[in-house]
Amino acid sequence: MTVENQRPIILTGDRPTGQLHLGHFVGSLRSRVGLQDSHHQHILLADAQALTDNADNFEKVRKNIIEVATDYLAVGIDPTKTTICVQSHLSALNELTMLYLNFVTVARLERNPTIKSEIQMRGFERDIPAGFLCYPVAQAADITAFKATVVPVGEDQIPMIEQTNEIIRRVNRQIGNDILPECKALLSNVGRLPGFDGKAKMSKSLGNTIVLNATDKDIKKAVNAMYTDPNHLRIEDPGQVEGNVVFTYLDAFDPNKEELEDLKAHYRRGGLGDGTVKKRLEGILKELITPIRERRNELSKDPDYIMDVLQEGTKKCQILTQSTLDEIKSGLGMFKF
Ligand code: TRP
Repeated sequence: MTVENQRPIILTGDRPTGQLHLGHFVGSLRSRVGLQDSHHQHILLADAQALTDNADNFEKVRKNIIEVATDYLAVGIDPTKTTICVQSHLSALNELTMLYLNFVTVARLERNPTIKSEIQMRGFERDIPAGFLCYPVAQAADITAFKATVVPVGEDQIPMIEQTNEIIRRVNRQIGNDILPECKALLSNVGRLPGFDGKAKMSKSLGNTIVLNATDKDIKKAVNAMYTDPNHLRIEDPGQVEGNVVFTYLDAFDPNKEELEDLKAHYRRGGLGDGTVKKRLEGILKELITPIRERRNELSKDPDYIMDVLQEGTKKCQILTQSTLDEIKSGLGMFKF
């Protein structure tokens, strides 16, 4: 076996429901750029999964496939190292999902803590779309079809990984052979980034995100709107760093950790104004976002290139996922002509 073949396989993905933002950048994009050199990385544009709670808005999901793909390329995901594919064009995933549904009980689906809280959040109550309840099974199909062993996700996705591993063990037991490798979640070492208004959830609908093509003006506006310490009224007052959104962002983005620690100490002691700290953050964010925005603007001028990347990637993944499906059907002893 060559070294190339020994690289662990990664599957990761995003629901294309909106442009990506700084929360995605610290949570997943930044690490994907690094992982593509040491892993076989596949990224799924999970449009079929997005439809499980957007069935009234196919257009939004379709349009955002291109937006999110552009974001990937703009941050440095390299299509010669990472395969980017469109989920709804991988029909093997649907067949796998149907097979796996036979190995999962409805009670188990209803027990998934992420699904439970999402049902509450979306107000589905008794009107849960069946596709929504079953999406963890579809996600297990995604992961296993690629035989991924590493799945970089946020904390909220841990129940999906657990459920995937249950399905993997069940399928392997049925086949009598460990055809499917178990997978593990790879969590980002940075916690979830709050919205710039300090709300725990960053979302487009709350208008508290900083998108990856934010202009200098957008960045300035967002940083100025950030909450600091409400008791830090005068520059001389000692300030609190914990829970101070500006420092949360500096923790995530400031490349100079030593200077940042000095800054925190100074802020705690008193004598450091919010304006100075905000200026520093504004500079750092501009430096980070400017090249991404410029690259994004360039890419947007060449939609054919983005289409080619998606088509090529999807073709490769069709072959890969179909081959896993064939292997599983045969392992389970399904009818063959
Ligand atoms: N559920 C993931 C999210 O909402 C997206 C996703 C779909 C995914 N299929 C996947 C992530 C497979 C990792 C692996 O972010």
